[in-house]
Amino acid sequence: MRAIFLVGFMGSGKSKLAKQLATKLNCTAIDTDEFIEKQEHCTIAELFEKHGEQHFRDLERQLIQELDFLQRIVVATGGGLPCHSSLMEEMNRRGTTVFLKLNAKELHHRLKEPKRKMKRPLIANKSEEELLDFITDKLEERELFYNQAAHVFHPTKDDFSDLIQWLLLHERNS
Ligand code: S3P
Repeated sequence: MRAIFLVGFMGSGKSKLAKQLATKLNCTAIDTDEFIEKQEHCTIAELFEKHGEQHFRDLERQLIQELDFLQRIVVATGGGLPCHSSLMEEMNRRGTTVFLKLNAKELHHRLKEPKRKMKRPLIANKSEEELLDFITDKLEERELFYNQAAHVFHPTKDDFSDLIQWLLLHERNS
């Protein structure tokens, strides 16, 4: 089975879905944020603070290149990963991409929760109102990349079993 890459905004549920898919498809789930945190021995927030965002983006690019050698993986990518260094094209070349699509209001509802907000340095210091503006603008910018995914999955509307069916069919045809 080709690698499966889940893309989408922060808070769209990529990590949880990657684990569910990996269990169902007998693959390994990889979370790019978790992987980088383990590799660098610090949290994403600390990494941004100590070395800046660009360093984190370099680590994301390296990681996608390294994953090339692995088979049967479901990768939950960080929300910004598909939007730099031609990584969306790269993931489309290497495997099957799925965009977890939620609208700005739904994302805001999830991300305003302090536990979710605080671990994400790009939104940690935003008020509720600033957060909604940020999500609205960033989502519009990033959907240009996310929309290049092979498949769109609406976490609150679509069925998990339909996604599995689609993935199996897509795999057979590719
Ligand atoms: C980011 C999303 C985060 C994490 C980092 C930057 C982004 O991942 O990679 O905080 O630029 O959208 P999640 O999408 O898992 O929150």
